[in-house]
Amino acid sequence: VTEGFSPGLENVVAARTTVSALDLERERITVRGYDLIELARTVHFPDVAHLLIRGHLPNLTEQASFCGALGTHSGLPEGVIDILRRLPRETSAMDTLRTGLSLLAGWEDPHVLAEHSPEANEAKAIRLLARGPSLTANGWRAIHAQPTLEPNPGLGFAGSFLWLIQGRAPDPEAVSTFDRVLTCYAEHEMAASTFAARVVASTMADLYGAVVAACAALKGPLHGGANEAAARMFAEIRMRGGAAAAEAYVMEQLWQGHRIMGFGHRVYMRRPDPRAVLMKEELDALAERDPEARAHVDAYEVVAATMEREKGLYPNADLPIGLALMLIGVPVELFTPVFMCARIAGVAAHVIEQQADNRLYRPRVHYVGPEDLPPPDGFAPSAC
Ligand SMILES: CC(C)(COP(=O)(O)OP(=O)(O)OC[C@H]1O[C@@H](n2cnc3c(N)ncnc32)[C@H](O)[C@@H]1OP(=O)(O)O)[C@@H](O)C(=O)NCCC(=O)NCCS
Repeated sequence: VTEGFSPGLENVVAARTTVSALDLERERITVRGYDLIELARTVHFPDVAHLLIRGHLPNLTEQASFCGALGTHSGLPEGVIDILRRLPRETSAMDTLRTGLSLLAGWEDPHVLAEHSPEANEAKAIRLLARGPSLTANGWRAIHAQPTLEPNPGLGFAGSFLWLIQGRAPDPEAVSTFDRVLTCYAEHEMAASTFAARVVASTMADLYGAVVAACAALKGPLHGGANEAAARMFAEIRMRGGAAAAEAYVMEQLWQGHRIMGFGHRVYMRRPDPRAVLMKEELDALAERDPEARAHVDAYEVVAATMEREKGLYPNADLPIGLALMLIGVPVELFTPVFMCARIAGVAAHVIEQQADNRLYRPRVHYVGPEDLPPPDGFAPSAC
């Protein structure tokens, strides 16, 4: 057993991968050799999903067939929504999505479900990716006893996703922002959710189980849940007076020992997150068109400056993305599910890679508990 213990596996290398890496020196996120931020600026989310799942950027024919498949599988199998409708009304959108992703496994052919070849995993990944938006939006509609909507693949992946969420023809600028959000969220090396998925995949369980594990991990406020918290913070600051109240808000939270969600990151704790830099540009563009957005972005800048001054911390992707999603009219409860839908692409890429050359994840522990205990006085085995 290798000596040494790193709480939270900090700085531990847990995989050899060709999927992605955080390049701290160059402040870049490399995805299969490309700069993720350049991808977000120049191509659309389905291209990035193809890059992740199939390993290369698609040519025209591949684009047509990939987008065609995303459209073909965008609806949900009959019965899924009926089951989700029976969940208690208080069920969160993220739990609804996690339940729905799990249900979908039941609609796969059992042989295909159990098949671990890259080709079989790719086919399942595309079906899961395609169904994410409908599961998110219609699952949430079902929980709230609202009628469901049919996906509209003619609007593109991001456009159809916004249509399903909002129930109206989406504004093209909002679609463009949303598409960039999806790309920013598509993949991020060994995030906790990806690690969870790789651990499950390493048991040779199926892709669905691995994606469900990722979804469970992503819900946490230290991970994907931070985008919702960031948006709620901006709504609160706006209520207190906007930019003029932002510094006092941050100081109050820090004095009370609270973390400001959307700041800090295990890997680039004291460096800017490249996705946050890109999405801040997106926020600036939104602010130019809308005074309400301007007020929020002014507050954003005060919050960021205060955190840099007080803690030396920079915004991570969730801070600007939380605000951007709020400004384009995505309900806050759906932020983390949106994140998950995009991350299906990255998680699937990791599962495909893990299962193509598998070794079971099975670390050891440093046991610090007692040993050789006798039973307590008077102890008798329970009757059950
Ligand atoms: C992401 C995160 C969990 C990484 O944490 P970590 O690697 O475990 O780092 P630590 O918790 O040890 O934090 C290191 C220091 O930074 C501080 N810190 C980290 N994130 C902070 C935040 N968001 N707000 C205030 N202080 C923060 C910690 O209090 C600690 O300060 P100290 O050394 O004075 O005690 C953490 O930054 C966090 O909780 N961020 C908010 C949630 C979030 O935005 N998550 C999305 C990540 S993409």
